[in-house]
Amino acid sequence: MRKLRKAVFPVAGLGTRFLPATKAIPKEMLTVVDRPVIQYVVDEARDAGIEHFIFVTGRNKAVIEDHFDVQFELYNTLAERGKDDQLARLQQLQPLPGQTSFTRQQVPLGLGHAVWCARDLVGDEPFALLLPDMIMQSEKGCLKEMVELYEETGNNIVAVQECDPAETHKYGIVGRGESVANGFRITGMVEKPKPGTAPSNLYINGRYILQPEIFEVLSRQEKGAGNEIQLTDAMLKLEQPFYGYHYRGRTFDCGSPEGFIEANVAFALWRPDINRSMADTIEGLLRDIRPVERRAVSR
Ligand code: G1P
Repeated sequence: MRKLRKAVFPVAGLGTRFLPATKAIPKEMLTVVDRPVIQYVVDEARDAGIEHFIFVTGRNKAVIEDHFDVQFELYNTLAERGKDDQLARLQQLQPLPGQTSFTRQQVPLGLGHAVWCARDLVGDEPFALLLPDMIMQSEKGCLKEMVELYEETGNNIVAVQECDPAETHKYGIVGRGESVANGFRITGMVEKPKPGTAPSNLYINGRYILQPEIFEVLSRQEKGAGNEIQLTDAMLKLEQPFYGYHYRGRTFDCGSPEGFIEANVAFALWRPDINRSMADTIEGLLRDIRPVERRAVSR
């Protein structure tokens, strides 16, 4: 079995669901509590043993590259002022020299196209793909659990979660086959099925382990739903087994204002240093704001 060392982060998206916040700031740099969304996703990859981080970026995304670089003046100033805790925290998150790569998607032709742009940087080895809008909360990271399944099965792994059956048309949906290790065999996949046609309510939540043969399929540049090059279509054409890992933690879609706010509240409550005051604040807000809401409705 080929060892998993690399991860791809498609970060070229325009963030149109989050305007005007994302007009000049990449959506991946919006902060959940005190770290950018992309930092959560990169940390999840690092915790799963990933050694090389490949970003498929676009125009106006250069600040992501800066975020993962050494901030020489800042580090020096923190050291001089004896702010050792803050410095250590930054250094702990700092990728080592040569551990990051950046390429540009140039044209917005879909997720499949973004992944294909990473073909030379990935080379002939398996890779993890983490969609940066989706951040996850659980004791053990989603990708780490997927790596455990991968070590049993090899081939391709897709993480899934249950969604409201009325929402299946928003996602890639998989069919569930026999159980294997801590996962199951995937019997089919469909990207954004029409209402009533989904094979299950298990949706692809944005974490994948893929074999490099996917690049050959993607290089055909075949367009699917929305006239975009769809990753799910390419996965279907790959003549290799796919396994599903049913993730039981929480997933937040930070590409939408609702998901982003949920993530902020959930991660603030998860943090022991701010949990107590946050819980009180939320209780107070619920108490004060609910009557206002009722007034607005009855008006
Ligand atoms: C993409 C994938 C889809 C997956 C979703 C998760 O869709 O194509 O299979 O369920 O991400 O967020 P997109 O959100 O880019 O339309």
